[in-house]
Amino acid sequence: MYRSTATALYLFARLVLGQQVGTNTAERHPSLPMVNTEVVLDFNWRWTHITTGYTNCYTGNSWNAAACPDGETCAANCTIDGADYEKTYGITTPSSGALRLQFVTKNDNGQNAGSPVYLMASPDKYRMFNLLNKEFTFDVDVSNLPCGLNGAIYFSEMDEDAKYGTGYCDSQCPQDIKFINGEANVEGWGGEGGDSGTGKYGTCCAEMDIWEANMDATAYTPHVCSVNEQTRCEGVDCGAGSDRYSSLCDKDGCDFNSFRLGNKEFYGPEKTVDTTKPFTIVTQFITDDGTDASTLKSIHRFYVQDGQVIPNSEVVVESVDPVNHISDEFCVQQKTAFGDNNYFGTVGGMAAMGNSLEKMVLVFSIWDDHAVSMNWLDSNFPADADPSKPGVARGRCDPEAGLPAKVEAAHSDAYLGAINSTFATN
Ligand SMILES: *[C@@H]1O[C@H](CO)[C@@H](O)[C@H](O)[C@H]1NC(C)=O
Ligand SMILES: *[C@@H]1O[C@H](CO)[C@@H](O)[C@H](O)[C@H]1NC(C)=O
Repeated sequence: MYRSTATALYLFARLVLGQQVGTNTAERHPSLPMVNTEVVLDFNWRWTHITTGYTNCYTGNSWNAAACPDGETCAANCTIDGADYEKTYGITTPSSGALRLQFVTKNDNGQNAGSPVYLMASPDKYRMFNLLNKEFTFDVDVSNLPCGLNGAIYFSEMDEDAKYGTGYCDSQCPQDIKFINGEANVEGWGGEGGDSGTGKYGTCCAEMDIWEANMDATAYTPHVCSVNEQTRCEGVDCGAGSDRYSSLCDKDGCDFNSFRLGNKEFYGPEKTVDTTKPFTIVTQFITDDGTDASTLKSIHRFYVQDGQVIPNSEVVVESVDPVNHISDEFCVQQKTAFGDNNYFGTVGGMAAMGNSLEKMVLVFSIWDDHAVSMNWLDSNFPADADPSKPGVARGRCDPEAGLPAKVEAAHSDAYLGAINSTFATN
């Protein structure tokens, strides 16, 4: 995904993080009975304060200079607290197995928007998924998720240790993460306005975007890295700005977006996959020889709606084979046809993705994109390019689509199974 560095927008001043665990707010993870687990709110979104009192360690977009002269001292001086998931963040589990993430939640401190959460195995370990030679299935209802928003379900190659949602990383090597490897990202921290900023360090790891979508557009996208675990980056390695194609990670990924690939009638309201109603999404990770020990060859997608299995749309783009799945060959052809840099292939392609898929953490979030308004997903991108040029039009959304005040989505019954097990039970 093109993760904006401004994901913490609307984050109110009091709400940030720290390394130690406070006791002012009890932490009760919303539980997801169907997957027999819990979710935890990302560390970056929590309140951090000086261990001995209530003074903020981070306010607006700057660090408390007394407590945080450097990253190590800051981590030693500051504490974080548990979170009230429903009242502050709008994270609830309204029915057995469902998780509801509200985009904007009004609370005592102002409001909160788009808090990412992670799936847990125990109070201090993430649930680790091995997706190779497996399929991952879940239901969504995106009927209230309009243009400009992204209801995302994806996997990041984060470390297993998890207390209070620490250790986030993704293929954008985000530098707006306040604590990385147990140290505050104080050095070089610059506020960008609002409540977020960026520091000298970023945090990189491979990412598999299963579902980045709203009512009008969808894409699934593998992103690989030249490192095979969460890695703190600095300088060129983080790939900021013009260093994009020197990064440790492939920020563009190799996306399969049906609209962008020429089938404009496949996904959307009243389309083949009708987004006014709930449906099931199945993603399959196929290996060379059909065993768990082998190399990732391709990533397939099916939808199930009203009891019908709907195979993914086929590509309709000149000089790209009419396939309906992602493989190294597809990535080369698509990138060439669209004039894009195949950094996905450069950094390792499907084989590298397969290695990462053996140990992934599941992330849910609803986010908006203050950098480029999600146009890379649902509108024309780059904005100044001719929309008739192959690859530029990604969805039918107005590039200016405004953000609604309140949006919600339900993700339920996520599960991992053997290839095609979903269809057997449907
Ligand atoms: C932060 O830690 C340093 C080193 O232990 C200490 O000297 C300083 O007083 C602490 N500052 C605050 C505000 O707690
Ligand atoms: C899974 O089911 C689909 C749709 O029926 C079929 O095309 C595909 O070959 C099956 N895959 C395997 C590995 O059996």
